[in-house]
Amino acid sequence: MKRTTAVVLAGLASAGAELLAGVELPGAAADVVGGPGERAARVGEREVAAPGGGLTEVARMTALGEPVYGRAAGNDIQGAVVPGFNKDHQQLVFLRLGEVEGARAWLRWLAPRIATMNEVLDFRRAFRAARLRLGVRDPGVSGTGVRVPELTATWTSVAFSYTAIELLAGPVEAGRFGDRSFRQGLAARSTYLGDPADPARPGHRERWVVGGPQNEAEMLVTVAADAVDDLETAVAAVISTASEHGLTVLLSERGDTLPGQLAGHEHFGFKDGISQPGIRGARSTVSGDEITPRYLAADDPHAALFGKPGQPLVWPGQFLLGEPRQDPQDPKVPAPASTAFPQWARLGSYVVVRRLAQDVVGFWDWMGSAAAAVDVDPVAFASALVGRWPSGAPVMRSPHHDDPALAGDDFASNHFLFQDDTRPSSLVPLAGYAGDSHRAAAADVLARVCPHAAHIRKVNPRDSATDFGAPADTLTRLMLRRGIPYGPPLVGVSDPSPQLVEAERGLLFVACMSSIEDQFEFVSRRWVNSVDQPNAGGVDPVIGQVDRAGQRGREVVWPAASGDVTLRLDADFVTPTGGGYFFAPPISAVDGILAGA
Ligand code: HEM
Repeated sequence: MKRTTAVVLAGLASAGAELLAGVELPGAAADVVGGPGERAARVGEREVAAPGGGLTEVARMTALGEPVYGRAAGNDIQGAVVPGFNKDHQQLVFLRLGEVEGARAWLRWLAPRIATMNEVLDFRRAFRAARLRLGVRDPGVSGTGVRVPELTATWTSVAFSYTAIELLAGPVEAGRFGDRSFRQGLAARSTYLGDPADPARPGHRERWVVGGPQNEAEMLVTVAADAVDDLETAVAAVISTASEHGLTVLLSERGDTLPGQLAGHEHFGFKDGISQPGIRGARSTVSGDEITPRYLAADDPHAALFGKPGQPLVWPGQFLLGEPRQDPQDPKVPAPASTAFPQWARLGSYVVVRRLAQDVVGFWDWMGSAAAAVDVDPVAFASALVGRWPSGAPVMRSPHHDDPALAGDDFASNHFLFQDDTRPSSLVPLAGYAGDSHRAAAADVLARVCPHAAHIRKVNPRDSATDFGAPADTLTRLMLRRGIPYGPPLVGVSDPSPQLVEAERGLLFVACMSSIEDQFEFVSRRWVNSVDQPNAGGVDPVIGQVDRAGQRGREVVWPAASGDVTLRLDADFVTPTGGGYFFAPPISAVDGILAGA
């Protein structure tokens, strides 16, 4: 490792974000249900499953025309999809089915153990209330390394490959899934995504630890917990009962929030998981019972468009099959729901999993030498190419230095646009929150502040017009990211041992969506891997991939004061090493049609 890289790496841990002081968030009226005991009763009473195939009513609409997910729907949607587990410890268990009847019997064991949307939302509310009571400083949810000792949970989810659905529900039902990418599977789509085409290269699908042509997983069970002991107990039960029913574990991999000040950061050292789309829809028509909390005051001109500043509200059909989708022209108007799926799959979601190994030394070596070539500090240079500083502060709001206070302000850290000046939002009264007094983001049409190639600008160009037209189209590309790092951290370690440097580490990238082709694959292929889309400026230096007859070199344009400088990037810092395309069905289908009922 270069000496300069070692210095940068060792210094990064000190960039942990200060967190927002105990802000009183608007509460919801809904009662708190949940806890493992109650769960069984709710499974029994689950009115969601109509005989012959679950069909859950989502009937009433809120004043904004958003769907209301009553108790039945909330018990049918998997909590891993909405609102997401976001736990500090997670295990991804990739399985192969054995004999079909055995697998079906196991699904009947598993179904009552799957966490529901209601359960996870209720926990989040209780967690938030307890944290405020205890005066713990934290802006949002669990999964940030912050503990509320008396409040812990262990949750499970399940998802199936196309092959598994063919085996369990039959080819006719499986054939009703319209998503071509899902039907083909990740291994078949790998080179299309820019993964190495040469089998001799790391990253080629033949070399994947799971999800390659020889080791494609048919089921994915995810267990998430606050406490490692709870996680291990639940995983042991999943694995032993699965094997009793003839299933084989292909890979069981642990992901953990990085320790200490690195909590919430990915392995290159940057805060992750900040920007997530808001989901339109509510659990009841009672104000405050929205799935995504609404913080903009009614008189704010954007009140109907954002959950909190910078968090666009997206119609749920972008993530849940059969729900109203996003109109590519008008963000306020729902587009008709997709119908390209079997009826029992309604309220389910596609899940993309990519096991992405990260070469932390390689990343900082390149950032260091490229930064030197344009005479910029390496951390400032890398931050511009990510789009955020290590603390998570967006470069659009703090172009010259990191700003942990900005990063820790949950109402400011995602409040920026690229094309236009960002105007202040008017918020509902929030006890303890003094308001967003950080420097506002100014329009950056020419990408002098945040390069067009920057990771966050590539994957979410926000208000910029794109090759696909109006900015509203970009809302149709967003995904719910649910990833977690694996492997030991290297950033923040001074003088690491050779073994630690060599240890494998990376991101278990997990994302939920209603079209793999139009969301994950579109963003990866059309924008991330492209030199000139959505805007000219080179490929995404963090995850962009190019394979031209085995040549992996690509270009990144750096906006130097004296004019654009094109930098050459030959190394891959992020290498795909496994994964799969899955479908997380509504829970009624797990012990319904998929269990042979
Ligand atoms: C090891 C691989 C990756 C690393 C290190 C990484 C890192 C990051 C970081 C540091 C952020 C900023 C934090 C935030 O806004 O939440 C971010 C945001 C994001 N990333 Fe990644 N990422 C990786 C892979 C991916 C992949 C494979 C995709 C999808 C193709 C993706 C899509 C996104 C999206 C959509 C955002 C939010 C952008 C926004 O709304 O502003 N990332 N990523």
